[in-house]
Amino acid sequence: MVAVSGSTVFRTVRRHMSPGLAAVYRDAGHGSHEETAAGATVRLADGREVVDFGSYGVTLLGHGCPPVAAAVAAQLRTMPAATRSLANPAVAEFVRRLTERCEPDLGRVWIGSDGADAVEVATKLAMRVTGRTRLLAVEGGFHGKTLGALALTHAAVYHEGLEPLLRHVAHLPEDDPEAVAREAAAGDVAALVVEPIRGEGGVRPLAPEIAERWAADARSAGAFVISDEIQVGLRRCGDFCLATARGWNPDAVLFGKALGGGIMPISVMVATSELFQPLAENPGYHSSTFGGHPLACAAATAALTAIEEFAERAREVGAAVEAGLRTLRSGHPGIVADVRGTGLLWGVDVRGGAAGPVIADLAAAGLLVSPCLGSPGTIRLLPPMVATDAEIGRALEILDATFALQAAVPAAARPAGRC
Ligand SMILES: Cc1ncc(COP(=O)(O)O)c(C=O)c1O
Repeated sequence: MVAVSGSTVFRTVRRHMSPGLAAVYRDAGHGSHEETAAGATVRLADGREVVDFGSYGVTLLGHGCPPVAAAVAAQLRTMPAATRSLANPAVAEFVRRLTERCEPDLGRVWIGSDGADAVEVATKLAMRVTGRTRLLAVEGGFHGKTLGALALTHAAVYHEGLEPLLRHVAHLPEDDPEAVAREAAAGDVAALVVEPIRGEGGVRPLAPEIAERWAADARSAGAFVISDEIQVGLRRCGDFCLATARGWNPDAVLFGKALGGGIMPISVMVATSELFQPLAENPGYHSSTFGGHPLACAAATAALTAIEEFAERAREVGAAVEAGLRTLRSGHPGIVADVRGTGLLWGVDVRGGAAGPVIADLAAAGLLVSPCLGSPGTIRLLPPMVATDAEIGRALEILDATFALQAAVPAAARPAGRC
């Protein structure tokens, strides 16, 4: 491990990365930085241990998941980098295992490194195959920040100054069952891109009957249906693939974040042959140097097994977190406005609309959670499947104590959020 003093870390981030980032890190770590981690516990350089129910959804299997780490170490000893001129068995094995987990129709795989990569390729293919340029997404949705993915992300703050590049997307109101039929009537829509549950948007599920109707209407209008499960898939919210479980018959499903077992960056688009056609004809049509890296593929293969092995524990963790959050909601009505979620993804709305100060207080007390980029009043909890009863208990105690502290401070005296 690289030994660098705490002040050097913050100084370097401030000087060469972003002063804002340095301030966020300093607040969250109370002046200390992360040093080691295992499961749901992160140890800081000052010796404190914090429970990690955040990490933006990456650590579904916790930190340093042993079988994933072992698979990466084994791959490191054999073929750590792909030539990309020769076939690689680690990549082929991953694709075989992944497609076994998906519906037979979703038999084609493109591999990238992060979520936005997968969004880009899926929408690009939809445009190419249909010869159309319009896309439909949902109000409150989040799909990444590269220019193509950003057009689908519904957050005005990230669009400012870029609108001319992002004009081909209509964002649908979540409560309008007719929205897709209306928007797609002109026959110019290439794809409908939806998150079954909007994570960054504040942990807000789409109503099943509306989403089902939208998917059917998109298909009748000749548009592809793309389910972005980068945050909510892979059993975080119960099912491996939510769109399939809900009967949407998607043309593509996107996974990322937790797919690398919390250790390696990897994302995928699994797609039908029809959507994948341009890549079947010309694999170079959309490629990325590090997409399909053998270390990432080895990690993801091990992660697929581990996710199934921990599925039962995930149900227990989800049930314990849900019960705890519902009790906290009734215990702190002046602070907690709402609790929403399922499985291992929960949103807690705080009154006043600014979750930032509460998130900072939770971190100082020993619990890391994530903010929601599109919902500043929501605290997002992403507990890992492997959380122990003690870690869940400690997380709930910290939430309880922090809400009690907030309740003791008059609303007017609470600082504004930084989300
Ligand atoms: C649903 C969804 N799609 C896409 C992305 C973009 O992923 P990445 O940040 O890895 O590019 C995210 C990231 O939070 C996400 O939650």
